[in-house]
Amino acid sequence: MTGIIMDGKALAEEVKARVRIEVNKLIKSGIKPTLATILVGDDPASVSYVRAKHKNCEDVGINSQNYQLPKESNENDVLKLIERLNNKKDVNGILVQLPLPSHIDSYKVIERINPIKDVDGLHPENLGKIFHKKADLIPCTPKGIMALIEKYGITVKGRNVVIVNRSNLVGKPLYHLLLNNDATVTICHTKTRNIVDHMRNADILITAVGHRPEFVVTSDMVKEGAVVIDVGMNRIEGKLCGDVDFNSVIEKASYITPVPGGVGPMTVAMLLENTLIATNLQIKGVSTYKSY
Ligand code: GUN
Repeated sequence: MTGIIMDGKALAEEVKARVRIEVNKLIKSGIKPTLATILVGDDPASVSYVRAKHKNCEDVGINSQNYQLPKESNENDVLKLIERLNNKKDVNGILVQLPLPSHIDSYKVIERINPIKDVDGLHPENLGKIFHKKADLIPCTPKGIMALIEKYGITVKGRNVVIVNRSNLVGKPLYHLLLNNDATVTICHTKTRNIVDHMRNADILITAVGHRPEFVVTSDMVKEGAVVIDVGMNRIEGKLCGDVDFNSVIEKASYITPVPGGVGPMTVAMLLENTLIATNLQIKGVSTYKSY
């Protein structure tokens, strides 16, 4: 079997086209949706992610502002900036680029964001709403994965889904979105015993590890006909690649996401969609987008 490639880049363009139409309507009515990003320090990967977010905002007509603080800034500096952005009527979305320097408590920072401006969906109120299938603002990577699964008509109901990642950004929210849709979900992590046994049992395998070459998903770890979703970000000799040995695993999978061009573009597209949702929540009090 040769798997079907799930084209995240193409779906991200479709999402962006829909967002662009809605943003134009808002602009015509005198509202310019605006995203503010906060970057503490100058980690090169974070700088490049933030830059990509701003470029994508520009593509769809969303206004964006970057607030870059020196890496020695203290927690209070960040909290004060968030307070200021919470109170700014012309800022609709606030995104704090993670990870923050280790002397800053990221929970305290995220908790300070007004939940209605929390375009990352990481505020405890927004994460808690996922339990109840009532979340308007859902973390971008998990939401992008759900959108890809839906686009390709993949059934999750009753199927064994294995997620290799337990972070607040990816694994934990994704666990609940899939459970809400009747999947049987297992989370694997660094302390999981016999991890390959879990992976081989997966009808849908989702990995977000990013530690190549220590962790590579090879075809012997994948069930015949599985859906394989690769959220890994690794750089090998300057080239971006995922967790999955794509060329061998595609021969066993029914569907597979490439890196680059799979989940990555979907994450950014969902940030744009969330900025639109946040703007509508602020002006109309409602979102017309589905919650997973
Ligand atoms: N760092 C890596 N991914 C993300 C993300 O989706 N949002 C934020 N805020 N930081 C990140």
